Amino acid sequence: MSNQITTKSVSLNTLNQRKLKQEKFSALTAYDALFAEMISSSGIEVILVGDSLGMVLQGHDSTLPVTLEHMVYHMQCVQKGNVSSLIMADLPFMSYASESQSLESAASLMRAGAHVVKLEGGAWLAESTRLLAERGIPVCAHMGLTPQSINRLGGYRVQGRNPEQASAMISEAKILENSGASIILLECVPVALAKEITETLSIPVIGIGAGPHTDGQIMVMHDMLGITPKAIKAPKFVKNFMPLSTDGIRGAFKAYALAVRNGEFPSPKESFE
Ligand code: KIV
Repeated sequence: MSNQITTKSVSLNTLNQRKLKQEKFSALTAYDALFAEMISSSGIEVILVGDSLGMVLQGHDSTLPVTLEHMVYHMQCVQKGNVSSLIMADLPFMSYASESQSLESAASLMRAGAHVVKLEGGAWLAESTRLLAERGIPVCAHMGLTPQSINRLGGYRVQGRNPEQASAMISEAKILENSGASIILLECVPVALAKEITETLSIPVIGIGAGPHTDGQIMVMHDMLGITPKAIKAPKFVKNFMPLSTDGIRGAFKAYALAVRNGEFPSPKESFE
């Protein structure tokens, strides 16, 4: 297993190759140029301009107040600092409520420099996913715990724990792959379910609180630096990489990338059985 840092630009093709070779890749959120540069030059393959910025930057208790204008602004900042990572950007709450709105909103993020747009949901996203993919816009479908639906879900809880929910999640993931999704992201899903979805799909699967078997791992940058805002309780799947660093924040990013590549993160302690 190589511990070399990637300097060539990461594309969807790179992630597909990693999946085929069973080589893990890492992802982190960034919202500005400085951190985008530090993350990208630390060998982290994917940067997510996440709507989690509503919580970690803006001080809200959910991602719902984040607008498309906010996302475009942060996307532009991240693009300036990025060196070679693939950049995904979140379509925020109610910016993809209809198919035509999905196209317009995704176009704004792509014009700002995104390489992939991320939408939260299941099979109901199939038609938007197909329309976006046909028009050259790669889609990441975020499934499991979808924070934009927090009011319907009734809390930040593990999803897919019962057999009916689990088999629905597997079939919806297949529908999204068949509709043209390029990546699936699973949040707060039991280890065995995330493993089955990862093995069933041929597109890369990224996990957060989804155990060690997904093709890639993602974390909110503030969480892995141990600076989760006080008002938010850090979830079980969070690990602070600062104590592992001998080189400040850059060292923590490198330690995270290495721990994912080596399969050391996440451990059972950061997973849901
Ligand atoms: O917005 C975000 O940071 C995310 C991650 C939790 C995956 O969607």
